[in-house]
Amino acid sequence: MLNKIVTLDEFIIRSEKQNPNSSGSFSRLLRDIGIAAKIVNREVNKAGLVNILGVEGSTNSTGDDVQKLDVFANEKFIETLSYSGEVCGIASEENQDFIPIKSDLDKTAQYVVVMDPLDGSSNIDVNVSVGTIFGIYKRKSPENGPCQIEDFLQTGQDMVAAGYVLYGTSTLLVYSTGNGVNGFTLDPSIGEFCLSHRNIQMPASGNYYSVNQGYYLKFDLEMRRYIDHCSDLNYRLRYIGSMVSDIHRIMFQGGIFLYPNTRKYPKGKLRLLYECYPMAYLIEQAGGTALTCKLERIMDIEIHALHQTSSIVMGSRDMVKDMKEFVEKYGAVIQ
Ligand code: AHG
Ligand code: MN
Ligand code: MN
Repeated sequence: MLNKIVTLDEFIIRSEKQNPNSSGSFSRLLRDIGIAAKIVNREVNKAGLVNILGVEGSTNSTGDDVQKLDVFANEKFIETLSYSGEVCGIASEENQDFIPIKSDLDKTAQYVVVMDPLDGSSNIDVNVSVGTIFGIYKRKSPENGPCQIEDFLQTGQDMVAAGYVLYGTSTLLVYSTGNGVNGFTLDPSIGEFCLSHRNIQMPASGNYYSVNQGYYLKFDLEMRRYIDHCSDLNYRLRYIGSMVSDIHRIMFQGGIFLYPNTRKYPKGKLRLLYECYPMAYLIEQAGGTALTCKLERIMDIEIHALHQTSSIVMGSRDMVKDMKEFVEKYGAVIQ
């Protein structure tokens, strides 16, 4: 007997029926994210063939080089979500300020989306995996007016959904609405994301660690001691430079990902809203743990600015627990 393929759209509709809190507009929004991901995927795949490679010559709001594919991905996600009619605002890593969206349709949009449209930009022009990260919030401001900053300055805990797209050897969309994590692989022959990984639970431990070891000397003592420990245990070091790709490996094989504060980034480099919250949301939903290097739960950290950054350590539950012991032993822990 043939296994029935479940497409992303079908899955979203089925989930809506099973979850009374899930609305039609929320489902349409998730579907639109799937559509934007397909458009970006098409461009990522032909990036080596057309003149879309290379640095565009500007920098993003956190000072990194912006490359053409970043701009493209940003535009496509904004365009698709703007037309959806379900989103009243978007905050993107690539834009200094949030973007209010006025709906032409005769209805009020209830959601805002936060996103890192292209994660791992240093990988673009060498054909190495990149990703997209997104999170969805319900707006807090009144529905009859434009979105406000308070709609975006909500904690990870307030997110109603989070996910990532991995443009890798195959393209996957992994997301959660707070009821487990599911993964969908894009079948290019039919142009559909198909359910391939149901209810992902990450291993409680593993033997991969993922950190930019080039910054070792710039890390605090407790992080250096923990990294020494990983090396003592012969854990395998893997660092792709795209958090989506590094986390994806850990999701399935178990491991720990670290981006500690450094001398250059005393508050950490990764952006809370676009990178840390959505990934922490997924990691926790898959049974893992996500903390700062001061052992605060990422999902609970208060956010005061769109581009606020944080240190982060996340992954398999038991490995993060081990890391915690090193911080307690060697670090100055906030009680
Ligand atoms: P982005 O491409 O969106 O700026 O994000 C890159 C992030 C993250 O994905 C990755 O883990 C990290 O920055 C790499 O930074 P380093 O080169 O400093 O290790
Ligand atoms: Mn990123
Ligand atoms: Mn990015």
